[in-house]
Amino acid sequence: MKKLIVSVAMMALAILPASAQKQDMKTFVSSLMQKMTLQEKLGQLNVLPAGDITTGGDIATQLSQDITSGRLGSVFNIKGVDKIRALQDLAVKKSRLGIPLLVGMDVIHGYETIFPIPLAQACSWDVDKVKELARITATESTADGICWVYSPMVDVALDSRWGRIAESYGEDPYLTSQMGAAMVRGLQNDTNFKGRYYSDHSVMACVKHYALYGAVEAGRDYNTVDMSHVRMYNQYFPPYKAAVEAGVGSVMTSFNLVDGIPATGNSWLVNDVLRKQWGFDNFVVTDYGSIAEMHNHGLGDLQSNSVQALKAGTDMDMCSFGFINTLEQSLKEGKVTMDEIDTAVRRVLEAKYKLGLFDDPYRYLNSKRRKSEIYTAANLKAAREMAAETFVLLKNENNLLPLKKQGKIALVGPLADDRANLMGTWSVAAVADRFKTVREAMADALKGKAELLYAQGCNVYNDSVQQAAGEWNHHIKRVDGVKAAEEALRIANEADVIVCAMGETAEMSGESSCRAHLELPDAQMALLQKLVATGKPVVLLNFSGRATIMNWESKNVQAIMNVWFAGSETGNAIADVLFGDNAPSGKLTVTMPQAEGQMPLYYNQLPTGRRVPDHAKNYMMYQSNYLDVRNDPVYPFGYGLSYTTFEYGEPRLSSTQLTDSITVTVNVRNTGNRAADEIVQMYINDPVAKISRPIKELKGFRRIHLAAGEAKDVTFTITPETLKYYDSNLHYGLDKGDFFVMTGPNSMDLKKAKFEY
Ligand code: NOJ
Repeated sequence: MKKLIVSVAMMALAILPASAQKQDMKTFVSSLMQKMTLQEKLGQLNVLPAGDITTGGDIATQLSQDITSGRLGSVFNIKGVDKIRALQDLAVKKSRLGIPLLVGMDVIHGYETIFPIPLAQACSWDVDKVKELARITATESTADGICWVYSPMVDVALDSRWGRIAESYGEDPYLTSQMGAAMVRGLQNDTNFKGRYYSDHSVMACVKHYALYGAVEAGRDYNTVDMSHVRMYNQYFPPYKAAVEAGVGSVMTSFNLVDGIPATGNSWLVNDVLRKQWGFDNFVVTDYGSIAEMHNHGLGDLQSNSVQALKAGTDMDMCSFGFINTLEQSLKEGKVTMDEIDTAVRRVLEAKYKLGLFDDPYRYLNSKRRKSEIYTAANLKAAREMAAETFVLLKNENNLLPLKKQGKIALVGPLADDRANLMGTWSVAAVADRFKTVREAMADALKGKAELLYAQGCNVYNDSVQQAAGEWNHHIKRVDGVKAAEEALRIANEADVIVCAMGETAEMSGESSCRAHLELPDAQMALLQKLVATGKPVVLLNFSGRATIMNWESKNVQAIMNVWFAGSETGNAIADVLFGDNAPSGKLTVTMPQAEGQMPLYYNQLPTGRRVPDHAKNYMMYQSNYLDVRNDPVYPFGYGLSYTTFEYGEPRLSSTQLTDSITVTVNVRNTGNRAADEIVQMYINDPVAKISRPIKELKGFRRIHLAAGEAKDVTFTITPETLKYYDSNLHYGLDKGDFFVMTGPNSMDLKKAKFEY
């Protein structure tokens, strides 16, 4: 047996030239493909999770057999250099051709240094910072053996019932495009990537989920999607296209239907739009099991669905075993051609080549890097700064915040002294036991200055159905609700101010975590109401992975700050902002509705034929509204307060006639008495067009810093490109006539000017 292994290893070394990368990529890949058997080729189109692999002793046999026999070319969600090395050894030393594995992972918002969830990051509107965090993420991932990450997710999401809105950048296509592209550039390190090699501190990104996954009906995960092409092109496609333009190395298909055909097997979507129209020529991977699921959608069997997926332009099968087990038969039966298989194989091998794996399969397996590159002080500092930028101050009556570091502060709530939930959904590589809880961070900040009292106060839920559904969530100790509330009220009555750390737990948003009710869970709401009834000032730190419904809170709680899930440095960042060492500056990228029944509720809606005016006070018969709730949100898109105030001037146009370009300038003044950042927003509206156009669309934003009393002019450029859209013939162009430009601090409080094209 040993002899056999040695000779196979020697064979592998003999077949792969020592310095593959010295050869031109096409030549190298072609000559490698000439040596490959059909099964070896199909193996390159197969990716499986490897998280159950342990080092030493027995390596899980099926996986190791698949790798050594060349039936498996890529693995994912395995953590640690040693474990990955063991698998890479099998591929490199024991498979016939020694083709290295591609090693992927769901690294969504940080590797071990966990940053805020993507929805929160979007609320910073800080594109440069997002890119910087992506660089850190790439460094940490590659320091631990990962060279391919399943990120960014750029699915535009309008409906907060959908748990995966947490992984999105919210409801706006323009902002999502900017964020997604920044992620791609940061992860892949565009400054070094010359289209040929990734550096050993860069990962290959995988933009997902192509396409329209954020539009699942009723906000229910994995549900169906049906939409017009006009809407796809104008509202949902732009962020995927932006990622392609940023050079993304791979694309993941979505679970849903597009025009009645599952995305994974949809030739129009992959071949025509992605490849031909946008020029994407890297590889496409399916989402987990989505070829197999085509059958559940009502299409054929695994064999015919695999044929359909391959022909659609999908190259790699994640977890369906469709390509590896059925394409050989389909080739024999003439249902696919060798050319079609080869095209997919070539794309996958080219990705490996670009990652430098043929030159050095162990390129990302340097165990020395962990100590100096993962979870470092510098990375944590970036996490802390970003976390603070993502917090959105929704209400601050009588300037309750920032709190003074004095007297007695009561901290209450199930999220107050918990670590694991701070990371938020999809943090597979995180080690949460090193995080500081909110309680610990506040105690540190207050040491020697003020007294911090603490009580958990309640459970996450009372409701048994919801509790059961959440049981797989990170556990928060279940307490006797009555006693816990008594304790909370006791410390509340003793304190000068009450801070509540309440809301969702980490896994109440994310994949497979949809909610039909978006209010604060029952047990927490009951306690919050009792705490407010004490008459003491109350600050609510709302943890959430989506827009939640805060009708009661917005009317009755004195200060509310949405803190999302802010990652490793949540505790410190909360203390920084709560006590005023840092001012909040985040603004919502998702509309906060008054009721679930309003959803999807989003700012860039189309006008209706019977539109009620903004802020209409009463129901209006035969107009587009509800009997029981007004159309407006509790908090609109783009909204967020600071510890200072800003005054906006009128938008000033360089010309009211656009030919090539004009500028719009707005003066913003910090009218308060402390320095802070402000996010200035620019929207446009095309009131008369070939098709109905949104009442407003974000087309520019800028994060600026203003000292107390300081004023700055902020200028945006408008070109014909800013105004273009796809009409019902999918012609991309613009109209002659009047346009409005609007500037201001959020999507509701805008001042407008008119120009003509
Ligand atoms: C399913 C999820 O939809 C996708 O986002 C993820 O990347 C894959 N599983 C791999 O874990």
